Amino acid sequence: MTESKASQIKPLLRVFSGEHVETPPVWLMRQAGRYLPEYREIRSKAGGFLRMCYAPEMAEEVTLQPLRRFGMDAAILFSDILVVPDGLGQSVSFREGEGPILEPLTSMEDIKRLRLDRMTPHLRPVYETVHRLQASIPETTTLIGFAGAPWTVATYMIEGAGSKDYPTARRWAFEGALLSALIEILTEATSRHLLSQIDEGAEVVQIFDTWSGVLPEPEFRRWVIAPFAKIVERIRRERPGVPIIGFPRGAGLLYQAFVAETGVDGIGLDPTVPLDWAAKTLQPHCVLQGNLDPMLLVLGGRVMEERIDVILTSLGQGRFIFNLGHGIVPQTPPEHVIALIQRLRAFKRS
Ligand code: CP3
Repeated sequence: MTESKASQIKPLLRVFSGEHVETPPVWLMRQAGRYLPEYREIRSKAGGFLRMCYAPEMAEEVTLQPLRRFGMDAAILFSDILVVPDGLGQSVSFREGEGPILEPLTSMEDIKRLRLDRMTPHLRPVYETVHRLQASIPETTTLIGFAGAPWTVATYMIEGAGSKDYPTARRWAFEGALLSALIEILTEATSRHLLSQIDEGAEVVQIFDTWSGVLPEPEFRRWVIAPFAKIVERIRRERPGVPIIGFPRGAGLLYQAFVAETGVDGIGLDPTVPLDWAAKTLQPHCVLQGNLDPMLLVLGGRVMEERIDVILTSLGQGRFIFNLGHGIVPQTPPEHVIALIQRLRAFKRS
């Protein structure tokens, strides 16, 4: 199928081509995961989360599960942002109920031991999953590839785990020397990782900067905007026409500079971003995506439906993809996802 023909039947790609789409397309961050019993079943047999990420058949199956149940407009590759440090040779593991654990980087020697040349061969199974998915997803569904942004991935590599406020990573951000060396490697690694996914069939890519909101403005510009701009420029140059979505979670007022200076095609809004401000300030420049609070999806009912309507009224007249403002949480009842999709499908743009 030619590219232009594909974009005609895939609502999410049509939004990026600037076409009129009557009902906004929808997908949900972390749409595959523990809130689904069919995911938990495969997960219990997989023998570890990373193993599942590197088993193309299982990763493909888990990617398809939410599509079968709910019929989203996009499939997001099942993988994790931490496969990149794993590919670079840092030890990464996921313990049940504890989240990720890494052997933390502590010095320039540790950074120099990271091996860019090892990453692409190590991540072959991930690219194989993308390849399978481009053949197995429904023809109106868009395949999204993804990576963590350099800053967010660096926080895990430095702290060795998730953290509330990233004390060591922030110290590195102010000091500069070690973080500069690490971000340079991660900018190259992230670009290669996304290019490989595009080569196997990813039609859109999203870059998650989950922890961008912990940095003051000068460090945000240096460690979030600058590496993002380089990655966007590289993908544009080497694989033109693939839309890139940035998700600088918690960027606040800096959302505007982020959009202007990175050149992303789409922007993921976290739940705190004011809708009318986003419609006026950001939507003329790029596609908006978001931003229902994931807790409203846990709650369901009238409160959720009213808020869906507010989002649709504020953002649904322009270029817009419905999503959450952050990932689905495990306690989400799957029936609430059905209710959300039904509510959206009933909305028609004027
Ligand atoms: O469905 C999808 O969205 C695709 C798969 C996906 C996962 N992680 C699977 C996953 C995606 C896009 C991610 C991104 C990711 N991973 C981010 C950025 C987005 C965000 O949510 O902020 C981050 C920060 C990570 C790192 C990570 N991976 C953490 C902190 C954890 C533990 C917390 C948790 O939710 O369990 C993970 C594990 C993880 N990644 C799971 C899944 C389905 C749960 C693992 C399990 O089944 O035990």
